[in-house]
Amino acid sequence: MARFTSWADKIYAQARDSWTETDEQRYAARLMLGTLAPGSRVLDIGTGRGRDVAVLAGAGHEAVGLDLTPLAEWEKIRADYDRASFEVRGFMDYRPTGAFDAVLDSGCFHHQHPDDLDPYLEKVRDVLVPGGSLWLNVFRRRSDDCAFTENPTAPWTDGRYIRTYVESTVKALLTGHGFSLVSHTVIERDDLRAEVDDMLVHAVRPKQ
Ligand SMILES: C[S@@+](CC[C@H](N)C(=O)[O-])C[C@H]1O[C@@H](n2cnc3c(N)ncnc32)[C@H](O)[C@@H]1O
Repeated sequence: MARFTSWADKIYAQARDSWTETDEQRYAARLMLGTLAPGSRVLDIGTGRGRDVAVLAGAGHEAVGLDLTPLAEWEKIRADYDRASFEVRGFMDYRPTGAFDAVLDSGCFHHQHPDDLDPYLEKVRDVLVPGGSLWLNVFRRRSDDCAFTENPTAPWTDGRYIRTYVESTVKALLTGHGFSLVSHTVIERDDLRAEVDDMLVHAVRPKQ
């Protein structure tokens, strides 16, 4: 059972989901698109309003969006693209019907409960085909003085964990779960007290 408080429900209900419309947040799917074989099957964990599912399905891929919060926009995306689908489900409770060529996690993993981090990455590995790609977009702290640490002992005031990484720790985390690293890209952002950027990591589940 995923450990989750309803921070996102409230934010979406009050239209305070500032991440949805930022260029930075959409960068991951754009970069990913350039690497996918035609007709790939892609899972978007923590899809939010489904912007990336629309981009992926619009490019001809089968895109499945998963989120704990159902959002009204999904209906139009489903109507516009035959190959787009959504499921209201926490990732740890998700039972896919088949493996994915790629997984996108743009801003979801770094909010998970500390006890879920290892099982979550194991599960990402398991839902990928051998050779499949993970595109993981996480917060990257600019310095050790950052208020947001890698191992917060308590959730933020709104109920979500906010975890930040540096290159070496995110790489160690992913290789520790059997992924091979392909690239990482720092995406600058100007919110979060100017202490945090995004880091988009592309990693692959080895073929054997
Ligand atoms: C910062 S938002 C990013 C949304 C989207 N990826 C985007 O780029 O617009 C994080 C999303 O992850 C969802 N979420 C958090 N934990 C989740 C989990 N365990 N399983 C599925 N979705 C989750 C939240 O409901 C929220 O919509």
